[in-house]
Amino acid sequence: MSFRGTESAAMAASRRPMLDSPFSERLSDGDEGEPVKIQAVRGTRDILPDEIPTWQVLEEAAQRLLGRYGYREIRTPAFEETELFARGIGAETDIVSKEMYTFDDRDGSSLTLRPEATAGIVRAVIEHNLMNTDPALKVYGLGPMFRRERPQKGRYRQFHQLDVEAFGFTSPTIDAEIVELAIAYLEACGVEQHELILNSVGDGRCRPGYVEVLRKALRERASEMCGDCQRRIETNPLRVLDCKVPADQAIVDQLPRFVDHLCPECRDHFGEVRRQLEVLGIAYRLNHRLVRGLDYYVRTTFEVLSGELGAQNSVLGGGRYDGLVRDLGGPDVAGTGFAVGLERLALLLPPGEGQSRCDVFLAPLAGAALDPALLLQRDLRRAGVRTMLDPEGRSFKSRMKQADKLGARLVAILGEDEMKRGVWTVRDMARSEQEDVPEGQILDHLKEKTNG
Ligand code: HAM
Repeated sequence: MSFRGTESAAMAASRRPMLDSPFSERLSDGDEGEPVKIQAVRGTRDILPDEIPTWQVLEEAAQRLLGRYGYREIRTPAFEETELFARGIGAETDIVSKEMYTFDDRDGSSLTLRPEATAGIVRAVIEHNLMNTDPALKVYGLGPMFRRERPQKGRYRQFHQLDVEAFGFTSPTIDAEIVELAIAYLEACGVEQHELILNSVGDGRCRPGYVEVLRKALRERASEMCGDCQRRIETNPLRVLDCKVPADQAIVDQLPRFVDHLCPECRDHFGEVRRQLEVLGIAYRLNHRLVRGLDYYVRTTFEVLSGELGAQNSVLGGGRYDGLVRDLGGPDVAGTGFAVGLERLALLLPPGEGQSRCDVFLAPLAGAALDPALLLQRDLRRAGVRTMLDPEGRSFKSRMKQADKLGARLVAILGEDEMKRGVWTVRDMARSEQEDVPEGQILDHLKEKTNG
């Protein structure tokens, strides 16, 4: 039946996006054949139940450790106005110019899925005047970020970060503390092999001078460099330093170094960060190319690399960003922070052991055994004992297999014979021993055996 002749303009309009969308073809296919399988979007991945224990270790370690350093959690939205990222991260960065998921909202405003957490947290700090109530503000957040990068091992289009930010501290001591915290976090999660790299990218006083020195040196080699670099020599020469094109590497290595052009204040600041890291026993390597992929950094920048990750070897990165809060319309307060990529961190950890999912497995073998089993299950769970019951009426053998797979410590069986005798058979799975327990004592017995 066709509505074409009678439909209103509104109905036609409401149908239009559907007809233009990829749904239309499938809808018109009717019921013929197998339904098309829908897969996860390229660059996204499911974190399956077997992986969750590892993620919980990472999340719990963050909560435990950050509390000791005085950080409190903040949760900001997964999307923001596009302008926040354009102004915060820098229009010339790869993130803003190539990788953002940006869309027009129905009211015409441009929104973007957050590619990182710092800009959104800064917006929240300004919007809620958090610096008024807490002039030394330490916050952290955990959540998904979105960047349209080419997917490969350790690089996804949706990934998760633990993001840590401290506002209102100008002293180099916070730079050293943040680096120490980042390393302590990796170690608390069980990462042993890592390398810290460190640099200073100066500030508003010395950066313009260095940028000119760099631009001059680059112009002489421009014709030998990739197209992106040639453009950036004029727009943002610092970005040339983190160019990944293999043919450009030898040229980039020979460029003048920022550390040789720092103003006295930035030089002193960097010297003190390095001295304090040495006092704290933290090894690092200087890398003059570490400008990082975001424009907001001043002075200290750092990354932690792991050789076990392949091409995407940066587990975490951060630095100081004094000026960002002011540039986004807030007070002139300093900022320092870092973010850990949780997928990359999880890749560094051994897969979690298969975990036990229940303490007691109930096997009602006779039809009349179901009700007492349901009541026992309810009472055990209320007492804090992890309990499961197979309601599908499978064979005894398959239930024992299932109990074993679930890691049950005890299986309580109620069959016709047990019901006649007024007992449950309780099997200790590790010892392969079993005993009869009278009906009236079964709840206390199982609670006691499982410390419920
Ligand atoms: P970032 O270096 O862009 O810094 O990202 C931090 C970490 O996020 C990286 O070291 C990496 O582990 C992870 N990461 C980044 N992109 C991807 C991806 N496509 N797939 C998987 N993991 C990824 C920032 O985001 C700054 N906001 C850090 C910061 C906080 N600086 C100061 N405060």
